Amino acid sequence: MDQIRIRGGRPLSGEIAIGGAKNAGLPLMAAGLLTDERLVLTSVPQLADIATMATLIAQHGVAVDKATNDGRSLSIGGAITNTEAPYDIVRKMRASVLVLGPLVARAGEARVSLPGGCAIGTRPIDLHLKGLEAMGAVIRLDGGYVHATAPQGLRGATYVMPFPSVGATENLLMAATLADGQSVLANAAREPEITNLAECLVAMGARITGIGSDRLTIEGVKRLHGASHAIIPDRIETATYACAAAVTGGTVKLRGGRLADLGAVVRSLDEAGVDISEEADGLLVRRLNGLRGVDVMTEPYPGFPTDVQAQFMVAMAVADGASMVTETIFENRFMHVPELNRMGARINVHGASAIVRGVRALSGAPVMATDLRASVSLVLAGLAAAGETVVNRVYHLDRGYEAVEQKLAACGASIERAAA
Ligand code: EPZ
Repeated sequence: MDQIRIRGGRPLSGEIAIGGAKNAGLPLMAAGLLTDERLVLTSVPQLADIATMATLIAQHGVAVDKATNDGRSLSIGGAITNTEAPYDIVRKMRASVLVLGPLVARAGEARVSLPGGCAIGTRPIDLHLKGLEAMGAVIRLDGGYVHATAPQGLRGATYVMPFPSVGATENLLMAATLADGQSVLANAAREPEITNLAECLVAMGARITGIGSDRLTIEGVKRLHGASHAIIPDRIETATYACAAAVTGGTVKLRGGRLADLGAVVRSLDEAGVDISEEADGLLVRRLNGLRGVDVMTEPYPGFPTDVQAQFMVAMAVADGASMVTETIFENRFMHVPELNRMGARINVHGASAIVRGVRALSGAPVMATDLRASVSLVLAGLAAAGETVVNRVYHLDRGYEAVEQKLAACGASIERAAA
């Protein structure tokens, strides 16, 4: 199994190209199930999770073809011949559950494996199911699978989400595009990835208003058609490399990064002593002096993203003073803490909060983590640490970061992938 080896202590300097967003690409690929015409997606990142979603969609009978030789464009479309999403694929990637809404809406039924818990929390899908029930689907749980049927088609409904779940908003939005009549999704999530999905659905002929707000109104249509749509730049990848510049010092240009999508991350980095300015083709990130401790709390967008919590904590681990990092979205998303402490960080977890007391320097160590963002936070810690850090279980990184070692090495980091 591959490892990433890092010799830390070098400031980053140079340019990093930000890829298309994984968490926009996955629902957009599921949206390809809503039409038998071709949906062409551009700026597709080359990631393990995108390949898993392509396999899932293909096994529903729908073609997933490379639209260009560089693999950055995918063309999706065709008849649905199989409405089952099997356990073997869903257990690998929870986002597989995003096929549920499109399958029921278009084929009148779906059988999707229940995803079960994962490293960062229990992560139920009750809101996805309640919303579909409100639209008239009959839901049965049986043998570890959700069986949803709507033989006469879905009907428009108002669903007030008890919590703005990203995945439930996406699933229900896609389902509502083909329902009979008007649907309203209130207290909906409004992450930029949802806006990207809604805009694609509109390009496919859906009628949606309130895009970008927490209240989406959808007038169902009989059918959707093909379209071509660009995946937005990955705001989490952008924030991750901004944190890398913060922990190492130096100046990094993030080509394609968008300030508006970063939400509260910009304010927190600014308070910590990191300057981020927008240029014509991206963002310039500079840490001019030392870092200061800043308190952050994760929240739905535009609040501070849970997907940047681990990376920001590394910056706080080497900042001047203390900070409190509170995780409100997932109940078990501090798996990076014991590994960071092994590298010399001083972090104590009390319930949903971590108290981080900044130290002068981290020291390299062999480390590993059990999820994507925790893993990349260990890479950032390795960049800041004295000596060698070896990050194991690199397959977590490959789910969501394309060419992480090449991108960092191009900015002067001493980092390489090696077979263990
Ligand atoms: C999306 O997951 C992202 N995944 C996650 O990114 C991200 O961390 C998360 O949103 C929050 O921003 C994709 O977009 C593919 P949620 P999702 O539904 O949709 C609870 C990464 O590292 N909940 O907003 O699964 C749930 O348990 C990943 O790229 C219910 O209780 O997140 C969690 O505590 C990891 N019932 C909270 O809501 C439900 O029916 C937020 O979950 C649905 C969710």
